[in-house]
Amino acid sequence: MLLVGLGAVSTTFIAGVQAIRKGLARPIGALTQMGTIRLGKRTEGRSPLIKDLVPLASLDDIVFGGWDIFEDDCYEAACTAGVLDRSLLDQVKPELEAIRPWPAVFDRRYVKRLDGPNVKQGRTKRELAEQVVADIRRFKADHRLDRLVMIWCGSTEIFLRPGPVHQTLAAFEEGLRRNDPDIAPSMVYAYAALAMGIPYANGAPNLSADVPALEELAQRTGSPLAGKDFKTGQTLLKTILAPGFKARMLGLSGWFSTNILGNRDGEVLDDPDSFKTKEESKLGVLEWILQPHLYPELYGQLYHKVRINYYPPRGDNKEGWDNIDIFGWLGYPMQIKVDFLCRDSILAAPIVLDLALFLDMAGRAGMRGIQEWLSFYFKSPIHAPELYPEHDLFIQLMKLKNTLRHLRGEEVITHLGMEYYD
Ligand SMILES: NC(=O)c1ccc[n+]([C@@H]2O[C@H](COP(=O)([O-])OP(=O)(O)OC[C@H]3O[C@@H](n4cnc5c(N)ncnc54)[C@H](O)[C@@H]3O)[C@@H](O)[C@H]2O)c1
Repeated sequence: MLLVGLGAVSTTFIAGVQAIRKGLARPIGALTQMGTIRLGKRTEGRSPLIKDLVPLASLDDIVFGGWDIFEDDCYEAACTAGVLDRSLLDQVKPELEAIRPWPAVFDRRYVKRLDGPNVKQGRTKRELAEQVVADIRRFKADHRLDRLVMIWCGSTEIFLRPGPVHQTLAAFEEGLRRNDPDIAPSMVYAYAALAMGIPYANGAPNLSADVPALEELAQRTGSPLAGKDFKTGQTLLKTILAPGFKARMLGLSGWFSTNILGNRDGEVLDDPDSFKTKEESKLGVLEWILQPHLYPELYGQLYHKVRINYYPPRGDNKEGWDNIDIFGWLGYPMQIKVDFLCRDSILAAPIVLDLALFLDMAGRAGMRGIQEWLSFYFKSPIHAPELYPEHDLFIQLMKLKNTLRHLRGEEVITHLGMEYYD
């Protein structure tokens, strides 16, 4: 597993997998480890574990490698992140200390609040991509690996719109050679992975591989592609609650979401350009779930606001408040308050695991390009240009499970069920 950025999410994920391997903890939150899937009719009583239905790599077979702009090994980085208890980290210390980040492709113009010493030098972005490819080749040979998956767990880069350089693979490759400023470091990693036929997922909201040029490359090399922005915390709750309000035809006049968090992610998001990337990712969700064009009376006037405030004392233990103004029968107003004292990286780590295992399986199954069935894991799922993104968590889960059934030649489940009453 190739992780770009060995920060809070990556180290919580890696330390967690090591602890689970040693029997010290359970893989809670990971569908690939704990989830079951119903097959056939409800009367058949067939509900195997997902990992028994589809061939997923075993946790024991995973080897970790990654890049960061800081030189800290994974143990030191996990201590800095402050998510997991020192007593747990100490039990997997040798495994974590063995993971030392390779120098990163980094440029402060794309993440303004960060700077670090462990950075690659190269005259062009093309050269930097070649250095990433060399890192990957070395890692693969040293550990005698069969397959690889890359996941971006690096900081949120500044907001970029798709420009001419992102439209075709030829334009993108030319852009790498002439250092086009619209090619961010995350795109250099994505390019290197996809060019080598390695599946790539983006856990942050920055554009990265969500551009036609890299989708074209993924198609060509047969690499699965997914993103963007892990769906954890507040947005996860939003995509659980909003489909419920809509299902019962309850109106919404306002949804105010605010967060305080004190980790490095919070510090990066304190920069307006990085926050803009995150804001776009968080705001889209309600619009697509509620479909105000179909329900103008219920959702046409919705005021939706998202704030993120950097507040160091909280560290990774974020607090997210939602004030939701809803209205019901005859327009009578009601309010719902949600106060989620969550742990961002604890919610994100199982997503990294599931994505890695599913993307690896998708690659072996010959599934190339955008993997929309993995939308379940993302705040702003990548999708085909002619489609709108599906954000409803329950539709996403149905799509994911039906994809697994389909892959194994099982019947997809429609929930029609009239035959039970014939
Ligand atoms: N924690 C969550 O629940 C969650 C949810 C959704 C998205 N995300 C996103 O995931 C990413 C990681 O979150 P985190 O909490 O681990 O943040 P973090 O700041 O702890 O870790 C990010 C790491 O990436 C490194 N980095 C930055 N640019 C890099 C580059 N170009 N190459 C290599 N390394 C680079 C940083 O040095 C840092 O160590 C962030 O973009 C965040 O917005 C996190």
